[in-house]
Amino acid sequence: MQVEQVLHMNKGAGDTSYAMNSAVQNTIISVSMAATKEAIVETVCSNWTDNMGIADLGCSSGPNALMVISDILDTVCATTRQLGRPSLELKVYLNDLYTNDFNNIFASLPSFYRKLRREKGSELGRCFIFGVPGSFYCPLFPSNSLHFVHSSSSLHWLSQVPAGLDGGGLVNKGKIYISESSPRSVVEAYSRQFQNDFTVFLKSRSREMVRGGRMVLSLIGRDSIDPTTPHSCYQWELLAQALMSLVSQGLIEEEKVDSFDAPYYAPCMQELKLAVLKEGSFMVEKEKACEIDWDGGDQAVEAAGHWEALGTMTRGERVARTVRAVVESMLESQFGSHVMDKLFQVYTELVDHYLSRTSAKYTNLVVSLVKRS
Ligand SMILES: C[S@@+](CC[C@H](N)C(=O)[O-])C[C@H]1O[C@@H](n2cnc3c(N)ncnc32)[C@H](O)[C@@H]1O
Repeated sequence: MQVEQVLHMNKGAGDTSYAMNSAVQNTIISVSMAATKEAIVETVCSNWTDNMGIADLGCSSGPNALMVISDILDTVCATTRQLGRPSLELKVYLNDLYTNDFNNIFASLPSFYRKLRREKGSELGRCFIFGVPGSFYCPLFPSNSLHFVHSSSSLHWLSQVPAGLDGGGLVNKGKIYISESSPRSVVEAYSRQFQNDFTVFLKSRSREMVRGGRMVLSLIGRDSIDPTTPHSCYQWELLAQALMSLVSQGLIEEEKVDSFDAPYYAPCMQELKLAVLKEGSFMVEKEKACEIDWDGGDQAVEAAGHWEALGTMTRGERVARTVRAVVESMLESQFGSHVMDKLFQVYTELVDHYLSRTSAKYTNLVVSLVKRS
């Protein structure tokens, strides 16, 4: 699987789009906003130039992309005001993979600029927003051009299916991610791929960020050292069960399930911090882990402005729609678009059943890093 070509959130603003089904990720942005604001204040206080480079990595499309930027700009303005300093010239970079629906973001920029001018007037200096397509596991920006980097719900995506699993001899039978029944070699391949990718990510940002620049990274992780616990991987387990149900109905081939492995890894905090320490360019300033309901909980349902329909759905439906908006492009390329409705109908039933017995939660990790001298 060529992740860069196959992975993209569902485009547009229709029923199954990411724009209409990203309330959980919105909740995640909100719960890490305190860490984001704190890091921006520190960055502005220690930046004595008249400009600031800000990047959101894995911005996707829909309301979340510009909401993050709006919150960041609010904090920058409030901080320069409190310091009695002139407004900064801001360069804001929105990054995602080449196949991301950048047009959806660009189309909302005119009203976003109008809102900024209306609400902030001259308090906001010159502000330029750029789209930067490409993988964050590669160099993306000129050297020393970034002061603040943000990334939410994105770094759990790997650059590739772990080496060995993508046709390289390792088999994860009937599963599509780490599972309790996965061979040890599969678990190790996933963990190694994450370490390699995250190290490349840190190295790339290290060149691009100024000394003292800060980075707030928020991603799905796990709360235990063991990546095979149900809490760490059960949403993939249920998706594998839904796929195997389609196999038993003769709708897809079993070999296609055996040969599909998600380019995803939910690390524990210790793994994240170890990678930061080993790479050496950044220091961990703050860390936090929190639990988010699979359907985002009440906060997601209350965010009715964008996601009105959520309130009328079962929890299983809400979870299935969120997951579909994220993984459909990958599953479609392996199993065909004709089985997607059926697959997510079965998945909804499995999730509803699972949630009737247990209160499933994601563990979200947030780390705030500062670039060393
Ligand atoms: C679930 S979305 C999160 C979007 C947004 N940050 C939010 O919180 O709503 C994950 C995004 O990460 C992007 N992504 C995954 N791997 C990436 C990579 N290597 N480089 C850049 N973006 C990547 C995906 O394309 C997707 O748009």
